[in-house]
Amino acid sequence: MVQVSRLGELKSPTRTLARSDDYVEYCRQTAKHARDLHDLALRGRHLKEVTKAICQSIAEEVSLGPGDDLVDIGCGDGTLLRIAHQLGVNSAIGLLATDEEVALVRRTGLDVRQALAHQLTLPDECASVVVCNNVLLIVPREKIHASLREICRIAKTNARIYIGEIPSAPPKDPTPQFATSREALSYMHEKHGLRTWLGLLRRMIWSQITGQPLTISPGTAISFFATSEEFSALAGAAGMQVVRQWPHEHYGGRKNYLLRKAS
Ligand SMILES: C[S@@+](CC[C@H](N)C(=O)[O-])C[C@H]1O[C@@H](n2cnc3c(N)ncnc32)[C@H](O)[C@@H]1O
Repeated sequence: MVQVSRLGELKSPTRTLARSDDYVEYCRQTAKHARDLHDLALRGRHLKEVTKAICQSIAEEVSLGPGDDLVDIGCGDGTLLRIAHQLGVNSAIGLLATDEEVALVRRTGLDVRQALAHQLTLPDECASVVVCNNVLLIVPREKIHASLREICRIAKTNARIYIGEIPSAPPKDPTPQFATSREALSYMHEKHGLRTWLGLLRRMIWSQITGQPLTISPGTAISFFATSEEFSALAGAAGMQVVRQWPHEHYGGRKNYLLRKAS
């Protein structure tokens, strides 16, 4: 996120810019400017097939099928919910961080609701399958214990619990710290093209005219990572046991976990 508050900053590109990595706000902005539903999966527009392949393998991993009550925490564009319905599940509920995302996915007829991982607004033991893929890595570390406890709380006894894409080590954030507005503009042009560059320039000018601070969120920082030993211990403290763990097929350095409630 970059803050620019005066037109002077555009003319004098030496001022320091501030940045924020509030991921919920990033999800809200993504939904507001989405051109395609798949934008909500936050993988990049050209990776729709990867999202499909990942959700397909999650469905297989948890043996999703008729009679299951699925809760998909952070369901993105709803791909896994659609696969679940094709497999004849009893119910499939998706949770999203913001009302803006909910409004877009709900239009496709799916049952989606707003909730954050550490405060799931669902009853105890309502799910035979709980999935939380590519979500905990963007949840602030101080909310991880509460999030794991919530996942455990909504899972029925013997539920299959899938938590995916947990980085084992802190990944390098690809977005640099921008020292000036010019640097931010040049980076956006190089990485995201003319449309994003123009959008940022327009917002910079608008913030000068209105005097309101400009907020830019790159959405690339990782909040949570854990070695498999750490993650197993965190899951254990929240009442779950790791059944199996394996490296992610598409993203090196990330692991997937299959868990169950500890008896
Ligand atoms: C990177 S997308 C992953 C989408 C999907 N699970 C997939 O693998 O394609 C992240 C999702 O997490 C949700 N999200 C963001 N912050 C969250 C939080 N604190 N708690 C729960 N969900 C969150 C967003 O609404 C978004 O749907």
